[in-house]
Amino acid sequence: MSDLKPINFTRGVPATESFPVEDVIDAAVASLKQHGRTMLQYGPAMGFAPLVEWLASWQGVKTNQVLTGNGSLQLVDFLCWYLLEPGSIVFTEAPTYDRTVTLLRRHKAQVIGIPLEADGPSIDALEIELKKHRPVFFYTIPDFQNPSGATCSGEKRRQIAALAEQHNFLLLEDAPYRALRYRGREEARLFDMAPHRTLHMSSFSKLIGPGPRLGFMFGDPALLSKIAKVAEETYISPNYLAHGIAYEWCRRRMLAPQIEKLKALYAPRLEACLAALATYMPDAQPTRPDGGFFLSITLPEGVETTAVRAAAATRNLNMADGLAFFPNGGGERFLRLPYCALTPDEIDEGIRRLAETVKEVSG
Ligand SMILES: Cc1ncc(COP(=O)(O)O)c(C=O)c1O
Repeated sequence: MSDLKPINFTRGVPATESFPVEDVIDAAVASLKQHGRTMLQYGPAMGFAPLVEWLASWQGVKTNQVLTGNGSLQLVDFLCWYLLEPGSIVFTEAPTYDRTVTLLRRHKAQVIGIPLEADGPSIDALEIELKKHRPVFFYTIPDFQNPSGATCSGEKRRQIAALAEQHNFLLLEDAPYRALRYRGREEARLFDMAPHRTLHMSSFSKLIGPGPRLGFMFGDPALLSKIAKVAEETYISPNYLAHGIAYEWCRRRMLAPQIEKLKALYAPRLEACLAALATYMPDAQPTRPDGGFFLSITLPEGVETTAVRAAAATRNLNMADGLAFFPNGGGERFLRLPYCALTPDEIDEGIRRLAETVKEVSG
């Protein structure tokens, strides 16, 4: 085994140096002084009321349209408990977030991947699949997609919203990276285009940190109250202690400057990743994200992600297997590069090792 320092291009974890530890300590003390009895008690499954109100006002919706939970992934699980039965059809992008695919499979859904293009899902492929099936929902990550880095264009968002209306299915819009735009203009949410057909979800995992497990959904109050019922039957109430602290941190107007700090930290890491790819792997043709945590490359013909992953490990370079992101196969040459938790020097060294590995595997 190599004695090189390990470099992890495995999962989309935030940089620990981005965590606003001191401000969270202050918010914890203040929130416990003010709301201690509520934060240490059970409460409604919709979430800690002041936080729900704050989120509603931030996102421009009514308080009865918001549900908080312990991370956004578990809210997807609750949605699946309510909406799916074995064999239910769910569309996702292909590639998509691997943990959602795992979760959908656990619910025995039939997952159909809609090929993703540089500007969002292929509308032609979506229309073809809609001739064959009516999905319960289409899970889509329109902003700085995990794992590809792609952002859905405004035109495609309009087409997707129109298709959801026409074919009567729900859009599950997952947007944890939306606030982390390093350049370019923000696109409207699917929720803005089809508010009655969209559940929008997001998370503080990439803004404060994953530790507080604070995710949220907004959309149709009747549907959210059903999901809240599943939540209540699972954990009674979400983590009021952590959510109370997060609320106080937000109330103190910490979010906007934190987002600026994150952009200033991460944008140069994206640039470092693109620069290292241009130097060491000039044929890699990476995606060119405008924000978020990920970019991706297509490996050269004949070079498979599984072999690259195994060979990279001998250089202490750890990668995720690209296959897991594709619900219906494919992705043999797909490689995701999460760059946010690495310094520019580590990124440079990691891509150098990756280039060596790919050369070795292509033999
Ligand atoms: C697209 C996407 N959705 C959901 C999550 C999970 O978020 P949470 O920590 O809120 O459960 C992640 C985390 O990486 C993600 O990339």
